[in-house]
Amino acid sequence: MALLRIRKKGDPTLRSHSRPVDKITERITTLLDDMIDTLHDADGCGLAAPQVGVRRRVVVIETEESGLLELINPEIIASEGEQLEGEGCLSIPGEWGITRRPAKVTVRALDRHGEMKEYTGEGLLARAFCHEIDHLDGKLYTDPGILVEMLDPEEEDN
Ligand code: NI
Repeated sequence: MALLRIRKKGDPTLRSHSRPVDKITERITTLLDDMIDTLHDADGCGLAAPQVGVRRRVVVIETEESGLLELINPEIIASEGEQLEGEGCLSIPGEWGITRRPAKVTVRALDRHGEMKEYTGEGLLARAFCHEIDHLDGKLYTDPGILVEMLDPEEEDN
C-alpha cells in the first residue's frame, strides 16, 4: 500500500479520457488499495484514477451513507431530479462551488472481483457518483454546465 500523489488542476491527466479496465489484474487491485489509502490520507469522499495520474476507469468513493465503494468501469444508468449543492475536489484544494447535479443517481460498475454491482445514491452520494465519473472523462466540477457558482471559501463551513 502506498500514498499516491494527487494531481492538481492544470495537470493534463485531469483533462484526458480514461480507458476502461478490460481485465482486473493485480495492478488494478493494488491501484484500488493505494487509492483508498490516498483518499483516507486526504480526508476526501471520492477519488478517480486520473487524479493520481492513471488513465483508467477506476473510482473509489466513501460516504457515511455508502461506506467504501470500489467502482471499476462505472456507468450512470439512471438519474432523476436535480440538486444545487456544494462540491469540492481534492485536485482543486481550498475551493468550493455550487453545482447542478441529479438528485438521485444509479451506477453500474464492476467490483474488484469482477462482479457487476448496482448502487443508488441521493444527495452527497449522487454528487460523488457524478463528480468521480466526470473525472474519467476529463471533466471537473468547475466546468461550464456543471458549476453554478464558486463559493467564498471564508463562508464555506464544510
Ligand atoms: Ni474531484
